[in-house]
Amino acid sequence: MTRIAIIGGGNIGEALASGLVADRTGAAADISPQDVTVVDHHESRLNHLHDTYGVATTDDATEAVTEADIVVIAVKPYAVSTVLEEISATLDSNDSETVVVSVAAGVTLASMENALAAGVPVVRVMPNTPMLVGKGMSAVAGGRFARREQVEAVRDLLGAVGTAVIVAEKDMDAVTAVSGSGPAYIFLVSEALVEAGVHLGLTRDVATRLANATVEGAAAMLVEGGSSAAELRGNVTSPGGTTAAAVRALEENGLRAAFYRATEACARRSAELGRPAVEED
Ligand SMILES: NC(=O)c1ccc[n+]([C@@H]2O[C@H](COP(=O)([O-])OP(=O)(O)OC[C@H]3O[C@@H](n4cnc5c(N)ncnc54)[C@H](OP(=O)(O)O)[C@@H]3O)[C@@H](O)[C@H]2O)c1
Repeated sequence: MTRIAIIGGGNIGEALASGLVADRTGAAADISPQDVTVVDHHESRLNHLHDTYGVATTDDATEAVTEADIVVIAVKPYAVSTVLEEISATLDSNDSETVVVSVAAGVTLASMENALAAGVPVVRVMPNTPMLVGKGMSAVAGGRFARREQVEAVRDLLGAVGTAVIVAEKDMDAVTAVSGSGPAYIFLVSEALVEAGVHLGLTRDVATRLANATVEGAAAMLVEGGSSAAELRGNVTSPGGTTAAAVRALEENGLRAAFYRATEACARRSAELGRPAVEED
């Protein structure tokens, strides 16, 4: 039995709790709702989480982390230090080793390790919002006290809410620029496609349905088809055809360069937020 405490029952905490409870085939398959305890300040959130997923709930973080195997910190970055302060002594007195996992953007492994007793294994995760619908992409980095199998166990558990890969912490800013903020880029592309369709005379409703279903279909081909994005695009770009004309216009208007610049700006901002005083998400 793996006992999991989730501190913070907001968007990400709920996504994790629901995924862990629903997982019947992956690494979380043997975790029952009673093995998951969610901690939050808000009684209404706790009632909702208990009633919906059957998980245990409490407003007392120390109670939840007592003898927990894994503690997931899912509060806003500025609140992480308060949580660590609250649970540190209990973690230190647990009989077996507790792995502390943080999903907080920009909060470094070193800052968390420094706030806990020496030797506590810490794992940092950068998730993204599709986790809320079980299709998250998470990157996982282990701290200096986290053993390989502990990092792999966290990666496997995240399989309950999507896919996860192990990376070095130095790559987290780049991860943020690609998958962390990536859903927003795709939403922006879809939004632009809708406006362009309206400009061509389609109703907003029809343009929205066309654009959304196109993003969904293209994403399914990418994930399930086994071909690269470049191959798939090549397959639908006939010589001298309509798609070739559109792709040429996109390239001439700097689409590729815009992504280089956007991801550089995102990674730079992520690095800034990761410096000592983390005040923003
Ligand atoms: N949402 C995303 O798409 C996303 C994507 C990637 C990473 N993340 C990361 O995930 C983390 C959580 O984000 P979220 O959107 O789930 O936040 P959220 O919806 O604000 O949820 C956090 C919850 O934790 C509660 N809380 C704060 N401090 C607490 C404490 N000491 N003890 C118990 N409960 C406490 C909050 O209550 P109060 O409101 O009263 O503070 C709130 O209900 C953030 O660090 C963020 O960087 C989020």
